[in-house]
Amino acid sequence: MTESLLPYGHQTIDSDDIEAVVRTLASDFLTTGPEVAAFEADLSTVSGASHAAVLNSCTSALHAAYAAIGVGPGDEIVTSPLTFAATGNAALYLGARPVFVDIDPSTGLIDPVLVEGAVTSRTRAIVAIDYAGQPADYDALRRIADRHNVPIVADAAHSLGASDKGRAVGTLADVTALSFHPVKLITTGEGGAVLTDDPDVHARVTELRSHGMVLERSRLTRDDGPWYMEMQSLGFNYRITDIQCALGRSQLRKLPRFLARRRAIADSYDRGLSSISGLDLPGRRKGAESAWHLYVVRVSEPSRRRRFFEALWRSAIGVQVHYLPVYRHPYYQDLGYPEGMCPRAEDFYARAVSLPIFPGLTDSDVERVIETVNAVARETLE
Ligand SMILES: Cc1ncc(COP(=O)(O)O)c(C=O)c1O
Repeated sequence: MTESLLPYGHQTIDSDDIEAVVRTLASDFLTTGPEVAAFEADLSTVSGASHAAVLNSCTSALHAAYAAIGVGPGDEIVTSPLTFAATGNAALYLGARPVFVDIDPSTGLIDPVLVEGAVTSRTRAIVAIDYAGQPADYDALRRIADRHNVPIVADAAHSLGASDKGRAVGTLADVTALSFHPVKLITTGEGGAVLTDDPDVHARVTELRSHGMVLERSRLTRDDGPWYMEMQSLGFNYRITDIQCALGRSQLRKLPRFLARRRAIADSYDRGLSSISGLDLPGRRKGAESAWHLYVVRVSEPSRRRRFFEALWRSAIGVQVHYLPVYRHPYYQDLGYPEGMCPRAEDFYARAVSLPIFPGLTDSDVERVIETVNAVARETLE
């Protein structure tokens, strides 16, 4: 019997999610309606952030967030290369330059010591990535950010529901961007959010999301009549639909259950894979509780990674690799970023393999992953 493929990530959609979407389809508002505002209120409650603005992706959220804190032409953001390209791309959209600093080799999180050395008068933000779902060391980053008077942005695409020393993601940075792509912690199909306590940043993100259009009567430069609204800055159409937000609200109610399942799977992997020589398991940062978006193992010997990866696929374990350091994409190479600039991130990439982890994995799926990884490691790593 051929076993079904277990992908590295997959959405969990129940009948109540489908009902929420169908109800919204039959309502008066498909977009810019009550589900959008309600999803924002729910996100704010769950995260503890004062304001939430929902957008059509995390990429849009990062773009709008950077713009809202004033990132512009000639500026720099200091960030980690162990992320999806969008973290850096959003700075490029604004004419700014990402400055990549290396990671802690055990967790894949940005190394605050290196951040300190990279901040200059051009730095407009420190952007941390909660790689694989584990919050970065925001206490250390905060000390640096305060010394240099720059804001911290959290790319929390992986970490909704995670916490550091009991403080929830959404309250750790000045501005936090979330993703609701299907493999993430909850989904809206495509979608994202910007969380912040700063009312000005929130207002700016909300404006940029919808063409830079201003509706509040008190802010208009003139009054042509009750219909009148005006564009005061160049914005985008980064709006998310009510259909998606209805799904997001339904998903958000299940976040505690999703997180508990992800954490149980990670604990099972830790136990079931710990005796494999030639494989390093994910490093856990003290005080941090991960959302376990990814479970990333690293082979000790990079030259064996491909064989290990391919053998797992032949056994229907749909592993993936996260991430090629952003500056090693050809587009970034053409911008002049040299290979070798962050050797720990390059080494991490050369050894990383993401195993399946998502709430829908059954106990027997988890057992299958553990047995297969053990067998394949014996074949390819020892
Ligand atoms: C760390 C990180 N940042 C940003 C993004 C972009 O998210 P989205 O697909 O919602 O635009 C992703 C998506 O994979 C990601 O993993």
